[in-house]
Amino acid sequence: MSLYLDNAATSYPKPESVYEAVSTALREVGVSPGRGGYRRGLEATRLLFETREAAASLFGIGDSSRVVFTHSATESLNLAVLGLIRSGDHVITTSAEHNSLVRPLHLAGQRGAEITWVEADRRGIVTPDQIAAAMRPSTRLVALAHCSNVTGAIQPVGDIAAVARRAGALVLVDAAQSAGMIPIDAPAMGIDLLAVPGHKGLMGPQGTGVLYVADGVELEPLIVGGTGGYSSGMEQPDAMPERFESGTHNLPGIAGLGAGIDFIRTVGLEVIRQREENLVARLMDGLAAMPGVTCHGPLPGEPRGSLVSFTAEGTDPQAIGFRLDQEFDICVRVGLHCAPAAHRTIGTYPGGTVRVSPGYFTKDEEIDAFLMAMRTILGAK
Ligand SMILES: Cc1ncc(COP(=O)(O)O)c(C=O)c1O
Repeated sequence: MSLYLDNAATSYPKPESVYEAVSTALREVGVSPGRGGYRRGLEATRLLFETREAAASLFGIGDSSRVVFTHSATESLNLAVLGLIRSGDHVITTSAEHNSLVRPLHLAGQRGAEITWVEADRRGIVTPDQIAAAMRPSTRLVALAHCSNVTGAIQPVGDIAAVARRAGALVLVDAAQSAGMIPIDAPAMGIDLLAVPGHKGLMGPQGTGVLYVADGVELEPLIVGGTGGYSSGMEQPDAMPERFESGTHNLPGIAGLGAGIDFIRTVGLEVIRQREENLVARLMDGLAAMPGVTCHGPLPGEPRGSLVSFTAEGTDPQAIGFRLDQEFDICVRVGLHCAPAAHRTIGTYPGGTVRVSPGYFTKDEEIDAFLMAMRTILGAK
């Protein structure tokens, strides 16, 4: 079995309970939630409800009907941006964003919105003052990632949200690299829209995600259609969460996501964070000792998410990724990581970086095996 160090793309392995929940939902529940009044359907509806409640509770959300199931963070970001932003609106974002936020914003721009791209510093961080300086009377939204998938930099989201709130703008946070890894209390942090993948830190299966929509935030749905209930009218219902959940749910995925969140709550987010911080520190210490290697993003000791991006002088990141895979059976991600502007910001465009992202289940020995492989590749002692 290969050594998997690409948890920032999707977490692997999942907790055993996640595999079991997916299998049970497929084999023993089988039917769709909210369709049909028979008793078996109620079991599906219960699974859906329990996962929604678990997600709400993880992010400090009091009313779980504000948690919408999507199939990825990308879909959540599209719904938040394109469902909210109209021609003439102004949006502030940063130069550190993933294409899953960049592209919906660019599309909103082509449809008549104005987008300001605030430049992050070399660590990938923007300050609340920079956001305040970019504010206009027409600013409708401030949109940014909590944690960068390129540098691991953690933005001061709470302080930025306070600036936005004072100016009457809403806040959209892309929690793709923080949900399930870094504590998030959406209401307390002033977050109006929280886009979350189910398949990364929350340890659910691929094809799952959620969007939290704060009370009072009005979005247009991206798709309309059957919602199980509210069948009599041609209009899409206003009721939450049905307004944004047309079509048959990914019940096996959502059941698995529920088990993933239960796992996190049982182990404890602080324990998971501590474990991942230790792995990242081990990784950074080992890389820092190799001549010519630069770890990008926050400096050692500064807060960072569960990933490290590095370059090695004179060696192409693609070549490193290829040798890690072919000779050592180690999976890492190389290149631009769907975030070209973030690489321009940190000076690693167009070659990109090698990104190593351990997960809760990664062992110390696996980090050591990766470091040993890197020493061989770079010819370091
Ligand atoms: C910062 C960031 N935003 C958004 C995404 C997209 O997530 P998903 O794969 O769930 O669409 C990713 C995934 O890599 C990411 O790292």
